[in-house]
Amino acid sequence: MTRYLGKETTRVDGIAKVTGKAKYTAEFQVPHVAYGFIVLSTIAKGRITTIDTREAEQAAGVVRVITHLNAGKLGKAPAADAPAQWAWPLQSDRVFFNGQPIALVIAETYEQARHASRLVKVAYQAEAHSTDLQTVLAQAKPDAKPVPARGNPVAAMQQAAVKVNSEYHIPIEHHNPIEPHAAIAFWEGEQLTIFDKTQNVYGVQQHLSEGLGVPAENIRVVSPFVGGAFGSSLKPNYYPSLTAMAARELKRPVKVVFTRAQMFTGHGYRPHTIQKVALGADAQGKLQSIIHEAFHNTSSFEPFSDATTSFLRQVYACPNLDAPLKIAATDLPTPTWMRAPGAVSGMFALESAMDELSYALKIDPLDLRLINYAEVDPESGKPFSSKALRECYRMGAEKFGWRQRNPEPRSMRDGKLLVGWGMATSVWGAFQQSASARITYHADGTANVASATSDIGPGTYTVMTMIAAEFLGLHLDQVKFELGDTRQPRAPAQGGSWTTSSVGSAVQGAALTITARLLDMANKDAGSPLQGVAAADVEMLDGRLRVKNDSSRSIDIAELMKRTGTTEITETFDSKPSPERAKFASLAHGAQFVEVKVDPDLGTIKVTRVLEITACGKILNPLASHSQEIGGVVWGIGMALEEATEVDHRYGRMMTASLQHYHVPVNADIHSIETIFVEEDDTVVNPLGVKGMGELGMVGIPAAIANAVFHATGKRVRDLPITPEKLL
Ligand code: MOS
Repeated sequence: MTRYLGKETTRVDGIAKVTGKAKYTAEFQVPHVAYGFIVLSTIAKGRITTIDTREAEQAAGVVRVITHLNAGKLGKAPAADAPAQWAWPLQSDRVFFNGQPIALVIAETYEQARHASRLVKVAYQAEAHSTDLQTVLAQAKPDAKPVPARGNPVAAMQQAAVKVNSEYHIPIEHHNPIEPHAAIAFWEGEQLTIFDKTQNVYGVQQHLSEGLGVPAENIRVVSPFVGGAFGSSLKPNYYPSLTAMAARELKRPVKVVFTRAQMFTGHGYRPHTIQKVALGADAQGKLQSIIHEAFHNTSSFEPFSDATTSFLRQVYACPNLDAPLKIAATDLPTPTWMRAPGAVSGMFALESAMDELSYALKIDPLDLRLINYAEVDPESGKPFSSKALRECYRMGAEKFGWRQRNPEPRSMRDGKLLVGWGMATSVWGAFQQSASARITYHADGTANVASATSDIGPGTYTVMTMIAAEFLGLHLDQVKFELGDTRQPRAPAQGGSWTTSSVGSAVQGAALTITARLLDMANKDAGSPLQGVAAADVEMLDGRLRVKNDSSRSIDIAELMKRTGTTEITETFDSKPSPERAKFASLAHGAQFVEVKVDPDLGTIKVTRVLEITACGKILNPLASHSQEIGGVVWGIGMALEEATEVDHRYGRMMTASLQHYHVPVNADIHSIETIFVEEDDTVVNPLGVKGMGELGMVGIPAAIANAVFHATGKRVRDLPITPEKLL
């Protein structure tokens, strides 16, 4: 019986968020806190020769200026012959990127610290740098985990009747969550408490344990609310260790908050990505070969793989495919995962190329996808645990009116505006990670539920409360779910769209364990009406433990607990992926249909209509789930038309480090967006039957828009963003 799952549920934390009760990292009040302001390098590569902090130290309110000359030690000292490393802040005079932290000015107030930061004088010995992926492409090295080709793509390409071959560019893009990254650290003896904006409290704990040389159990990381992160807080970043080190040096609480500009070098970014895609098909449109080479940058001191070509191998039934990823070092900060990492980049190129192939073949773009529909996973040959993509295509085409499309570019108009229709496929994973959750069920019919996950915005507080209420048979307001604290049971980072599958399975497991315990307790009494009933056949509902679908056989839980002298029952459940999953391929899919209107004189593009149909297992909270997909579409519009981090390669510096210069969509850019789910009944992926759905929403959107722009204008733009001048 469903009580909450599948029903639209408003956010349980919504009122706390809009009334200011929800505390974000920088809002925690810690007595006697000092404020740190970070000073960043202004060269991209070289050495600090002198750093003069005297004037800053004399400034009003300044407590200390920490540089590499007086910083507390972080991490292990590298071996003398090791290559230059930048893992921990303020540990050497080396500069590895423009915008690297080189000092922390700490003062009684934020304003005093910021003022004094301007008084720090630095001299450098600069070295030649390279920050442009184009110029280092030849030095790119294969991804650490290369995937071999399938079939014989080169020979098959030679024999293909129809071919396309194009190159696609995606610039560096930055996450710009509303909440800036921040930490507040304080020590009580050997115990560190740190409030940190993070998607992964246990990851930060481990990182700080290594950096500070303190046992993990002495470190408490707290992060109850996150104002957006999108991958920018998956890795620990440099500022938590900097803040904790400063607090240890000063023997005083320290707070550090990034400025908006510091976020452009302080938390990673979507890497600059270049893709060379060749598709070969027979005259009927059947793909014969895909050769999809991707290149992206990393930093000089740290590897990073965006796995650009991973998911795209599994999209089309093509026997011959090679999709190598090569990565080149640049003198920039290290990239990181950013919303739908890899997938949205790889699918922009593949789905643009599929559109180009459809024109070369004179086959409708949707028909071309259907001709090459993968009935089984083309990479492993395994069956899909579920795949309703065909229904997504069918429903999307019908609702959008796709079959009325005149395939000829520039053939459709609205007054003087050129109208274009484009489509693309989306794909994401159905991941599940190990996770733990703890439930305490009280005799008064309330429950406390905890797991150290995060809620960066998708509605994790709400869906976990729903799952617990569903299986404990309680009302939502009888359940209190807490997250974001290393005192809670271990959970994975919130990322990869795996939280509901991973943590949700643990919450469900803990609730079912409590149900089984209550049954045991009840059946110690020979007269129990539940004698002989298996745990799987009972459920909790409205304070009673009862045989499923048989309310005549039930007992009152409060009475049972009272009779047995039990005030509360606590169970912790560790969930992990079922081995059954290995027999199948599990993916989430979607189809996107887009209308654009282009002003032929100005080159301006409006995305007037988006229809996105996704198939991602069961939808537990349709309200929050539609929000996720709409948000994905909005981000896809940003990626297609607006977002780019420009680098001035003369200085190796990110130039667009503000929301004035880094454009993201605003309300005026957004018109009609409709998202629809085709639910799948997948009993393999996890007990809840849910797949990744958050990141899925943006995959395919940039390609669908670029394809619509081609249909409108006859211009194929292969480098994002599609800004007006590229159409003139
Ligand atoms: Mo998302 S890039 O997995 O936070």
